[in-house]
Amino acid sequence: MKILFATPECAPYVKTGGLGDVSAALPAKLAALGHDVRVLLPAYQGMQVSGEVGQSIDILPYAQWPAAELLPVKVESGVTLLLLACPALYQRPGGPYVDAHGRDHPDNALRFGMLSRVAALLGTVHSPVPGWTADVVHANDWPCGLAPLYLAQTRILAPHQRTAGSVVTIHNLAFQGVFPMDCAEQVGVSSLFRGVEGVEFWGQMSMLKAGLQFAQAITTVSPTYAREIQTLEHGVGFDGILRARASRLHGILNGIDTQLWSPATDPLLPYHFRAANLRGKASCKAALQGRMGLPGDRDALLLAMVSRLTPQKGVDLVLSALPRILASGAQLVVLGNGEPWLQDALTEAARSHPKQVAVKLGFDEGLAHLIEAGADAFLMPSRFEPCGLNQMYSQAYGTVPLVAPVGGLLDSVTDADADPAQGTGFIMRACDAAGLEEAFARLLQAWAKPARWRRIQAQGMARDFGWEASALQYLEVYRRAALETGAASGTSLP
Ligand code: ADP
Ligand code: GLC
Repeated sequence: MKILFATPECAPYVKTGGLGDVSAALPAKLAALGHDVRVLLPAYQGMQVSGEVGQSIDILPYAQWPAAELLPVKVESGVTLLLLACPALYQRPGGPYVDAHGRDHPDNALRFGMLSRVAALLGTVHSPVPGWTADVVHANDWPCGLAPLYLAQTRILAPHQRTAGSVVTIHNLAFQGVFPMDCAEQVGVSSLFRGVEGVEFWGQMSMLKAGLQFAQAITTVSPTYAREIQTLEHGVGFDGILRARASRLHGILNGIDTQLWSPATDPLLPYHFRAANLRGKASCKAALQGRMGLPGDRDALLLAMVSRLTPQKGVDLVLSALPRILASGAQLVVLGNGEPWLQDALTEAARSHPKQVAVKLGFDEGLAHLIEAGADAFLMPSRFEPCGLNQMYSQAYGTVPLVAPVGGLLDSVTDADADPAQGTGFIMRACDAAGLEEAFARLLQAWAKPARWRRIQAQGMARDFGWEASALQYLEVYRRAALETGAASGTSLP
């Protein structure tokens, strides 16, 4: 099957969170299963990509938009990256979504309108890649949300032409790509589609809504989150649409790249280990304590967080529970960046308790791996969590997760008190500081019994979080979407 995977981020080239990891691992797995996968990604400033570079391809200008081209690069995983080069839109300091001061790029509507438009073009007879038209366009999050709408517009204008089926994935419903309605004209959303049945969201234009309305299928990154987002409490204004399209909404749990995230081989670790022999993990713990400036106490329970610092992740709940955590004698390391008030509060906690709390602000892939390997337990008291990857990395690395009872956390962690024979972590009973303290008290009881703790670690390390099963589910969704638009006939698809 010919699959176009459109995304605003892809590890290791550009990553702000889990979408970066998913955009690397899922296409690689689909390619390994024998499919022809191309990943469309903007060519941001400073991005380093190595691989077999093909001929660059001009994208015919649209309206007053700046000139752009596609640079194909076949990378080691077997996937072909299609780097969307448009210097006027993407060659600038900052991250994919924000400038160097953390403010949204002012022209994000056009920047991601361009990404979506090229994604859609690749699924039409006007595909810029010679001899290649996608059977399915997989649009990820709001930055690609207009792609299904553009494909729908093409079908209206040229009903007899073949167009790809489209699938939109919600990685986080809180990010909705909302812009003034004036932008609809600029990005070429037909006036037919500017109403409430189209992109209109409280008087503005939502790019995510475009995807939700016009894609043949909607997926999100865990079965529990798929149910949650159909409720008023977690629907962030979109629960009505999601209920209306429930028969097309699928929750498919993310996997992890077990080649990159394996404690036996991880090249970013100073020592390696397996479930049968955790000596290397103890050495990683000592290395982590040393690197973070904490006393090298082997017996202290070492807790960790690696996270965007936002209210979503419940960092403030950890701060509220900190007196209880510190009273137990535990140590805490935090790696993250994000909202200034949370950065300041964490820095202050580290300053007041230098022997127990250490904080590193910033984005550091190598340190993230060392923390997963060296910590004893990992805190994820998220208020909502579409999937979450760190609880899976933690289990693979023998680091016991303590998680909130939401989203993908519920689908990937088993509570060790509720199910001792299979438990891999501790699940909070409520998403608040008291819930965190209660789960922490249970975690401490397990920590006090080394044999029990080792069993919980071993049960986590034995879990299979690989991508295979989920990739097969995506293929089934793709196949149905492509059949629906006539992009492919059922029998000819591999
Ligand atoms: P989200 O996508 O909501 O941020 P996930 O748990 O799905 O949450 O994925 C987060 C990913 O980003 C993980 O791979 C995590 O290790 C990584 N990450 C988050 N913050 C940092 C950081 N400050 N430094 C390094 N890696 C980070
Ligand atoms: C989002 C979610 C996270 C998920 C990731 C990858 O950023 O917040 O829970 O794991 O996307 O799908």
